[in-house]
Amino acid sequence: MTSVDTTQHADTPDAGRQAVARRLLDSSETLSYDPVTEVDWETPLDTSYHGASPEWSTLYGTSYWAEMTPEQQRELTRQEAASVASTGIWFEMILQQMVLRDFYAKDPTDPAFQWALTEIADECRHSIMFARGAAKLRAPAYRPRRLAVELGRFFKTTATGEAAYAAILVAEEVLDVMQRDWMRDERVVPFVRTINNIHVVEESRHMKFAREETRERLKGVGRLRRQYNALVVSIAAYFIVSSMVNPRVYANAGLDTKRALREAKANEHHKSMLRSSCSGLMEFLDSAGLLTKASMRWYQRANLI
Ligand SMILES: [Fe+2]
Ligand SMILES: [Fe+2]
Repeated sequence: MTSVDTTQHADTPDAGRQAVARRLLDSSETLSYDPVTEVDWETPLDTSYHGASPEWSTLYGTSYWAEMTPEQQRELTRQEAASVASTGIWFEMILQQMVLRDFYAKDPTDPAFQWALTEIADECRHSIMFARGAAKLRAPAYRPRRLAVELGRFFKTTATGEAAYAAILVAEEVLDVMQRDWMRDERVVPFVRTINNIHVVEESRHMKFAREETRERLKGVGRLRRQYNALVVSIAAYFIVSSMVNPRVYANAGLDTKRALREAKANEHHKSMLRSSCSGLMEFLDSAGLLTKASMRWYQRANLI
């Protein structure tokens, strides 16, 4: 007689979940990139280009932005793009560890298991690509502030189930909307557009998986656990979003850090860019029951809602 433990869902993979993972594996086989050969690493940096769409700059629309020379504006968006890429590396390392832990000793014949390893391999290539990209943008190592690094260390070691996958989804969605704009923008330096294009294509599969897993793991979850995880995910979202642009980018673009930080903090244009780009994500979290009163406060603080 075999006993079926329904709480260990990975040992009893259901057909729908398997079909999704199978489709993702097929899609990955058809369209994946090797950044080492796809990205133009050779051509020297052309400083007549931006690093990101200027409208995404934390200073766009402020009086400081209006006073800056076009050269300074381009240097700022290049440093900001490098900082976002570096934050991407930080989060991808958290994510790889969470997924690896989640699938530890599970059924390797399950397509979801194989998909999980495929996703980890994608992220590993992405992080190397972001690292090389940031270096080519002539940026130093931008790492999140100490508190974010330590909370991330705790989260990556302990987060499981819906909290892990919903946090993964939040990080991927926030990055996705920016990168979709940058990859199409002719003002952005071509190699950065390629990097963003690769990332957008491969991440769309990751987001599909994260949405599936979040929904799956939330099945039958009680109110208290849902409330707790909703709060944890929103706090993670706050630290991810507030770590995107390192305060040192301003000095590295030749700006006055104090004034830049003050104007960036009050920049309604940037806040509304974030809010409008996250409306789909918020709808999903709401439908999954993860948009609780307590979590809303953190999303508001992060200007995601
Ligand atoms: Fe990635
Ligand atoms: Fe991803």
